[in-house]
Amino acid sequence: MVNGFSIPLGLQKKKLIMKKMNELRNWDNKTWLSSPTYIKSFNSFLLKHKKLSSNSKILDIGCGRGRIFGVLSSKIKLINKPVGIDPVLHKDIDNRIDFKKQDVFKFFSTNKDKFDLILIKQTLHFFGKDKRSKLIKICKERLKKNGMLIIFTLVTQDNEIPCFKLMKQKLDRGLKRDSKMLVSMRKLLKDSKIGKFKFKVLVTKRKYIEMLKQRYISCLVNLNKGQIINGIKEIKSLYKSKICFNDSLIFIKYIKKS
Ligand SMILES: C[S@@+](CC[C@H](N)C(=O)[O-])C[C@H]1O[C@@H](n2cnc3c(N)ncnc32)[C@H](O)[C@@H]1O
Repeated sequence: MVNGFSIPLGLQKKKLIMKKMNELRNWDNKTWLSSPTYIKSFNSFLLKHKKLSSNSKILDIGCGRGRIFGVLSSKIKLINKPVGIDPVLHKDIDNRIDFKKQDVFKFFSTNKDKFDLILIKQTLHFFGKDKRSKLIKICKERLKKNGMLIIFTLVTQDNEIPCFKLMKQKLDRGLKRDSKMLVSMRKLLKDSKIGKFKFKVLVTKRKYIEMLKQRYISCLVNLNKGQIINGIKEIKSLYKSKICFNDSLIFIKYIKKS
């Protein structure tokens, strides 16, 4: 209820989603995910899967601060700025990307370009089932011939993200949903290939605790302050001063044949 009026359910849901996204602001904020080593290794991996030239057109859906394609743009000297879409506007967006603070469906309704590469990295789970299918269908249409759509999401089995007990329960619940999502995406993307991207993370326990406090991953977003404090106590006793693990992503890669 706001000022005695109840908010319609659709609007409430939208507000909750926006809240969740805003709370994820620290995802790539000075973490290993924004480190030059991670970005370099991720981009080299992308280029192994898709040859790009300076004429290529590329799009990142849910780009965050846009560092990945910003760095890629410099590396391959892109003539067209990569397009990055995200509903959250950060202060420090990479200026090498053409950032759109826009709903992706609105973007596609006005922009009719076709792309050589469309990236959806750790973002697809934010869309409901129907919107996901709709998004994949549009992405397929918006690929050039031999263009590639590549979707990355956390590995759903043997995930090594350091967790406290409650965090692990939430993460596993999300991963279960992701694993169903992957099955349905592969049905929509016939002849797609799957694989893994692994990055070895070495982070100090102190830094990781800061990340937990900032609720860097979506399974932490709905936890209250007390739950986070207790979780940090667990992490303090479980881990040594340096934490080492593999941040592993599963990917689905689809190439448009005609
Ligand atoms: C976990 S972060 C990943 C950011 C970036 N892709 C990366 O891997 O570094 C998820 C991103 O998806 C964005 N996002 C959530 N819902 C979205 C939507 N409907 N359309 C576009 N982006 C969305 C969030 O704002 C957030 O920046």
